[in-house]
Amino acid sequence: MGIVACTADLFPEHIEQLEAAGHEVRLFEGAVHDSLSSILATADALICLLTDPIESQLLDQAPRLQIVANVAVGYENIDMAAAEEKGIVVTNTPDVLTESTADHTFALLLSAARRIAEADAAVRDGEFPSWGLQQPLTGIDVHEKTLGIVGMGRIGAAVARRGHHGFGMPVLYHSRTPKPDLESELDAVRVSFKQLLEQSDFVCVHVPLTPETRHLFDADAFACMKPTAVLINATRGAVLDEAALVDALKARAIAGVGLDVFEQEPSVHPNLLELHEHVVLTPHLGSATEETRVAMADIAVRNVLAVLSSQPPLTPVTV
Ligand code: DGY
Repeated sequence: MGIVACTADLFPEHIEQLEAAGHEVRLFEGAVHDSLSSILATADALICLLTDPIESQLLDQAPRLQIVANVAVGYENIDMAAAEEKGIVVTNTPDVLTESTADHTFALLLSAARRIAEADAAVRDGEFPSWGLQQPLTGIDVHEKTLGIVGMGRIGAAVARRGHHGFGMPVLYHSRTPKPDLESELDAVRVSFKQLLEQSDFVCVHVPLTPETRHLFDADAFACMKPTAVLINATRGAVLDEAALVDALKARAIAGVGLDVFEQEPSVHPNLLELHEHVVLTPHLGSATEETRVAMADIAVRNVLAVLSSQPPLTPVTV
């Protein structure tokens, strides 16, 4: 039986599940980095969040640790090479958050295009612009516009399906590998990054953060986009150069943006906060539905239960 340290705010049923298997659960919700090393000194398993940096030095102080179960699909917070070297299994929570994250991406897209956040704020401020052909808060059509997906993985494909089936949008995509199934299902067309930027009305970003994708969207990329285009990012903030994005919005090089993720979370570029027109910002809520968060915790706990009973993990990730 083992000690399961947990920085996530686990649901009671998952704590019970671990305890029923004979494990001791130690909760350290919101633990700061310095305290993680003492937490890990005696732990056999760690259930953690993407906001916990799990570095090599930390793993050096975890002699009994068998598994790091990250409650997220992304795992760039974990030093994977160090974990592998020490024989520590790393797991993530894929699949269960695909549809919720795609829903949120589409919510951002619609909100930025139709200026929902601005309109809501106006009504609450007592403003109700009179109806007119060119009235304030007029938006941009979404239906039948070209949707560009950068990174056609699970979430990218789920967003493309919403656009194609729900809104009649032609789909362009940029991906390392061709996706013939999606090309037949959605009439999606694989194009270069530059072509996608030049031709899309809505650009949705779904690549993971890696050294290659950091600042993939820089001043040059924004300059290639249509001035009427709207950019949506619900993957990782640093895929966009936020300062260059602010400049592009101010110069009207692009029309708008919907962001769920930021370069320096929880900080947001101060100049971004001053921009409102076709700009929607949410605090990393992509997978934040009740059903999905339970499902994510469930996978993390099942991974821990498997590894602590010498079974293979359900959803391992490797370097
Ligand atoms: C993830 O799982 O990586 C998401 O960013 C969480 O919402």
